[in-house]
Amino acid sequence: FSEKFLRGRRVLVTAGPTAEPIDPVRILTNRSSGRQGFEIAREAARAGAAVTLVAGPCALETPAGVTRIDVETAQEMRDAVIGHLPGTALFVSVAAVSDWRPASAAAEKLRKTDAAPEIRLVENPDILAEVGALNPECRPYTIGFAAETGELEKRARRKLEVKKADAIVGNRFDLAAGSERNTILYVTREGTENFGPAGKDEVARFILRRAAGSLGR
Ligand code: C5P
Repeated sequence: FSEKFLRGRRVLVTAGPTAEPIDPVRILTNRSSGRQGFEIAREAARAGAAVTLVAGPCALETPAGVTRIDVETAQEMRDAVIGHLPGTALFVSVAAVSDWRPASAAAEKLRKTDAAPEIRLVENPDILAEVGALNPECRPYTIGFAAETGELEKRARRKLEVKKADAIVGNRFDLAAGSERNTILYVTREGTENFGPAGKDEVARFILRRAAGSLGR
């Protein structure tokens, strides 16, 4: 690999959590620092790619040379991703997207009354599955993440099929969350590779090199 192994490629990355409003002051969210996704965006830019990073709320600096789009909700993240697909060679879906959102957000702050409020949840769009379902000829090479607490490889391989992704990066949520380091499985239809424990920057380079090897001319 040359140092600029993604030169001339457009790369789209999602990172961080999403925040789904319950009322003007309360949200439903996931635990995600955004670090692994930001490292992938940073390393893709270093490798010469034109990188768009769609970021949910997280307190991280934008990596050098990366175009960042800040979003709050899964629906906003989905719209930003779909809008940026044309011309994109590689899509890496790292964001911890909330699977559900409150059916409606209260316009005013909910007050403490006699009974605690019932919050009805509805399903959010599955961004990775939506991209995976597109015709493989006209969609980017698509990588998803599977942050799991239990059986990693089985779940990652199942996610590869269900979401029609080209690769799934499996990582143990309990080890990776908030940490600078990560240990992953890289699962494709060709097989499974282990990588790490290593810094999230090294993990990012490993994933991007594997992906670059699978991109057409
Ligand atoms: O199904 P699960 O949430 O475990 O799948 C994780 C993968 O799917 C990640 O790549 C995540 O970015 C993506 N995802 C998504 N939209 C959702 C839920 C997950 O893109 N609503």
